[in-house]
Amino acid sequence: MRLDGHHALVTGGGTGVGRAIALALAAQGAQVTISGRREEPLRETAREGQGAVGWVTGDVTQAADMARVVAQAAQDRGPVTLAIANAGAAESKPFGKTTPEDLDAMLAVNLHGVFNLWQAVLPGMRDMGRGRLIAIASTAGLKGYGYVSAYVAAKHAVVGLTRSLALELAKTPITVNAICPGFAETPMLEESIDNIVAKTGRSREEAAKALASGNPQGRFVQPAEVADAVLWLSGDGASAVTGQAISVSGGET
Ligand SMILES: NC(=O)c1ccc[n+]([C@@H]2O[C@H](COP(=O)([O-])OP(=O)(O)OC[C@H]3O[C@@H](n4cnc5c(N)ncnc54)[C@H](OP(=O)(O)O)[C@@H]3O)[C@@H](O)[C@H]2O)c1
Repeated sequence: MRLDGHHALVTGGGTGVGRAIALALAAQGAQVTISGRREEPLRETAREGQGAVGWVTGDVTQAADMARVVAQAAQDRGPVTLAIANAGAAESKPFGKTTPEDLDAMLAVNLHGVFNLWQAVLPGMRDMGRGRLIAIASTAGLKGYGYVSAYVAAKHAVVGLTRSLALELAKTPITVNAICPGFAETPMLEESIDNIVAKTGRSREEAAKALASGNPQGRFVQPAEVADAVLWLSGDGASAVTGQAISVSGGET
């Protein structure tokens, strides 16, 4: 699937799933801009992109920052045609210990982060009459999990935002979809395993096995498998696919 002539902006594109998405899009001929708060992972991923991948630092929780990132990306590589809202974070706590500030933090990065990126790119996409808005949500946007209620609430909200905006844009060529990975092998997963080890005293192997057992295929999803779904949604052949929450989870949901 060639994507020449596209410019993709991938938030959280320096690590994990976002990195795999950015490099997969570049390999198919797209120009790519990656964004995140830390320079080093962005630089390293851009290096691997061999000229097709540029970077701009920015915080997805800040609307003004996202507007700046989108403007800079457009100046560097042309108008953004593919907006991949991938940046996210997962905090694990029992509900009784979850503070209003914890909830706000999960909503800020996982929900406002998607909202801010899409708000910033949509006027340009409307002007061009083309575009793809894609959120990397989670199976946590489709079902509950214990001890991550704030994260699950935020990811459910992302799926709701996706379904509503898709309807608003249905008469335009712009599609809006969410991809819902199950546990995927990334730095975020490593943190979840560390957390289980610290809180339960289980070994890393036991903790990883417990998380993987939620996937009917009995394994972790690979970032490249999430990237593949992004490639498909980005292509002309997916023009009729909008408002969907696509599970990439080995059949978990
Ligand atoms: N790994 C899984 O099991 C899994 C499963 C389902 C869904 N997901 C989702 O997949 C997405 C990517 O996660 P991942 O697993 O690849 O984890 P990751 O490697 O920790 O990536 C998260 C990325 O988001 C960026 N980020 C975090 N807060 C940000 C902020 N305020 N502003 C801008 N960028 C920010 C981080 O960069 P900086 O820290 O430099 O800002 C980092 O590059 C997330 O939305 C996550 O919820 C992951």
